[in-house]
Amino acid sequence: MVKLSRGCCAVLLTMLVAFSSGIAEDRSGQPTPLELFNQRIMPIFRSPQPSSCVQCHLAAVDLKQYILPSHEKTFASLRDQGLIDLEHPEKSKVLTLIRMGDKDLDEGAKLIHEKTRLAEYQAFASWIEACCNDPKLRDAPGLTAQERARPERPDEVIRHARKSRVVDSFVRNVWSQRMRCFPCHTPHEIDPSNPQHQAAVKTHREFSEKLDAALVARMDIFRETPEATLAYLIDRSRDVKAGELPLINLEEPRDSLILLKPMSKLPVKKADGTFEPASSALPISHMGGLKMHKDDQSYKSFVAWLEDYANVVGNRYAAVDDLPADNWVASNRFLQIAGAPESWPIEIPVQLFVHTWDEKAASWQRDPIAFTQGTVTPRRMVNGSLFVFASPANEPADREHQLVGGRYLIKAYVDFRHRLEDDPTLLLGEEDFYGQTDLHRTTWRDGFKAAASVPGNKLLKQ
Ligand code: HEC
Ligand code: HEC
Repeated sequence: MVKLSRGCCAVLLTMLVAFSSGIAEDRSGQPTPLELFNQRIMPIFRSPQPSSCVQCHLAAVDLKQYILPSHEKTFASLRDQGLIDLEHPEKSKVLTLIRMGDKDLDEGAKLIHEKTRLAEYQAFASWIEACCNDPKLRDAPGLTAQERARPERPDEVIRHARKSRVVDSFVRNVWSQRMRCFPCHTPHEIDPSNPQHQAAVKTHREFSEKLDAALVARMDIFRETPEATLAYLIDRSRDVKAGELPLINLEEPRDSLILLKPMSKLPVKKADGTFEPASSALPISHMGGLKMHKDDQSYKSFVAWLEDYANVVGNRYAAVDDLPADNWVASNRFLQIAGAPESWPIEIPVQLFVHTWDEKAASWQRDPIAFTQGTVTPRRMVNGSLFVFASPANEPADREHQLVGGRYLIKAYVDFRHRLEDDPTLLLGEEDFYGQTDLHRTTWRDGFKAAASVPGNKLLKQ
């Protein structure tokens, strides 16, 4: 072993301390803003890891986007955007943004990002304080809007790409439709003590006995909460067997298994009467059989959510105009056209809009309060459950208040021009208008059997 003299040890110790604290000091004993910037802010800027903002923001914003290579410019940029409080540095808005994660009700997410958040907070808090104590920096010349560092995306896009907004949209568009997958994929909706659920209990049991354990486990799609369901779908979409489609397909949202399975028929029957295994590669087959039709209202809302989700995580929304309206809420109230006009071919998509009567103006409201979409069935019916629109006056959309009964105008739009082929989420416009009729309804009740029915031959151009 090499023996070191006392003097040598002391030198080594001083070096080690200086090295491990990582912060050189100026003559007053305090690190300078530049030193703090280089040692604490630059590592955040250069890190390939996302910042703690991902706890709530799936895309469109990262703490790095507020940092410039020059420390003076970074400070001026934050200051000029109102993110620095020169008199009370600890109250600076950028620190509030970093601390947002502390308030998250999602304890799991809060914990995962805690370490990163704390490191970011301490780095920014100490650097901002040092900057605010430096008159040269406080009074440094302002930057033009172009020179400032901020996320490329406008605030509306940043808000749209929030995890909680995505979950809210999932609830309205996918979770709300889950009873169409009852009882097979909704174990938490089955109540064995409910006499009306006995058939459901039996169906679920039969599938569980027939299928092998791995498949039975995969039938539990809709979990106890929407959050848990979404987490499961995302997790399962990460590990997919070669050739099979993922539950959520980020490249081709319309090729997501969650959409294609319920649109697919049963697998081929073998000679002994049992089925071939269901396929999760194209062409898909579904052991549950056909449960959703292309262009029905659930298909539309599933596609709307899948496409929006893929655009959000792919950071593909650049401008406010790119954002989908995403403003409808599912209801369990049904609208139906019976005896669809002869000019409507079987399977053509039809959209039905509901308008209310405006007493004051003595006319129909221009904006519809609800809509549904369906295709013409072989028996010449169009059916669908209504989605109620949220509007600034009706925020959040409240189906109880919207569909209370009264006088309504039903407007029918038919997709003769096949515009839904390219964009299944589209709402048809005046050029697709077919006809309209009044509907008097004293009360709306839930369920398909209580559907409001309108005869097709009553739909008139005016
Ligand atoms: C706990 C969740 C959460 C975290 C973590 C979070 N934010 Fe946000 N952020 C929100 C919410 C909620 C909104 C929307 C506020 C609103 O609509 O008024 C938002 C909106 C924004 C906006 C748009 C402007 C605005 O005020 O609406 C920006 C920019 C932003 N956040 C930046 C950040 C940055 C940078 C970080 C990381 C340092 C971050 N956020 C971390 C929840 C969070
Ligand atoms: C009558 C029962 C039944 C109904 C109702 C049903 N399914 Fe299925 N589904 C099954 C069975 C059984 C399987 C497993 C075999 C297979 O992959 O087809 C399955 C598989 C799936 C899978 C593949 C799961 C995986 O991880 O591989 C998806 C996705 C799916 N169904 C979606 C739906 C959706 C969405 C609905 C409702 C709109 C629905 N199903 C309605 C019985 C049903």
